[in-house]
Amino acid sequence: IQTLAEELRGCLKKFPNFPLEGILFEDFLPIFADPKHFQKLIDAFKLHLGDRKIDYIVGLESRGFLFGPALALAVGAGFIPVRKPGKLPGPVYVAEFQKEYGSDKFEMQQGVVPKGANVVIVDDILATGGSATGAYELVEEKSGGKVVEFLFVMELDFLKGRDKLKAPVFTLLSGQPEKLGS
Ligand code: PRP
Ligand code: MG
Repeated sequence: IQTLAEELRGCLKKFPNFPLEGILFEDFLPIFADPKHFQKLIDAFKLHLGDRKIDYIVGLESRGFLFGPALALAVGAGFIPVRKPGKLPGPVYVAEFQKEYGSDKFEMQQGVVPKGANVVIVDDILATGGSATGAYELVEEKSGGKVVEFLFVMELDFLKGRDKLKAPVFTLLSGQPEKLGS
């Protein structure tokens, strides 16, 4: 995993002062532009999950949709989207959560995650942990699924988002380097 992560870290493109002055934005989109790198991203997450039985990958709109479905296929799981409000048809569960500035909402369709299903929640980046907390509430508290782990590509450690999360957290390209071993 470490070798894969090193290589993928080299794909990140840095944009100073985006989206705001003083912020260095690390863009992970170049990974997807190259099928070899895209495959390595999926391989790394798959290696990390090992032989655990995963029923569903839940991806968070929008950037969790970029690799959630590919990872789901790779591990033989289904894919379920968590979407921004008003996008999903039929009855939905709603979770409100705090972001850096103000609050936001996520929705998930009712009846898509069976009680007791093993779920892995994926997104591009862990910042304050607000989005991930909302997704956790939808999967574990509203649907009765079991959040086995959160997977992120990157993490803004200084925001301490991981301290808020109620399931194990794995970040591939930043944060806890000791966890990359194996
Ligand atoms: C960003 C990012 C994560 C979330 C992380 O998404 O893609 O989903 O913020 O922040 P948090 O840990 O503080 O909740 P954003 O809401 O900007 O939307 P996008 O994915 O649609 O670009
Ligand atoms: Mg997002």
